[in-house]
Amino acid sequence: MEKTFAIIKPDAVERNLIGKILERIESNGFKIAAMKKAQLTPSQAKGFYYVHKERPFFGSLTESMCSGPVVLLVLEKENAIPAWRELMGATNPEDAAAGTIRKDFAVNIEQNSTHGSDSAENAAFEMSYFFSETEILS
Ligand code: CMP
Repeated sequence: MEKTFAIIKPDAVERNLIGKILERIESNGFKIAAMKKAQLTPSQAKGFYYVHKERPFFGSLTESMCSGPVVLLVLEKENAIPAWRELMGATNPEDAAAGTIRKDFAVNIEQNSTHGSDSAENAAFEMSYFFSETEILS
């Protein structure tokens, strides 16, 4: 079993899509190992996305992540990291495959409804950024 970290972003929370996204997660065989709703602070968002700090979109990305509440998740499944990225679809919804979350729900490349870790190393960092070990229930 592998764990990955996911976020339901403010654009999706704002449009009442939490339930629809959780339904896709569970019906695709993921177990929800941890979940909480949170309002990110600018410093939390900047720390979370520090790998993108040199990118031109860093300011607007971190601002949009603080524009409303998010849902933070730890998901568990065999090969959870690639499986969650496949279920989300490509970062840019214009490039995302039919039936993926981003194709169906994302507003644009920045407000793309969900986040998922892209490697085991980043998943470990991202899970521990928002959850203590005792909050993650396999
Ligand atoms: P996420 O999977 O959360 O990882 C980094 C985020 O940066 C990405 O989803 C998008 O929200 C955002 N992003 C990536 N590329 C661009 C871009 N070219 N323009 C604006 N935002 C981007």
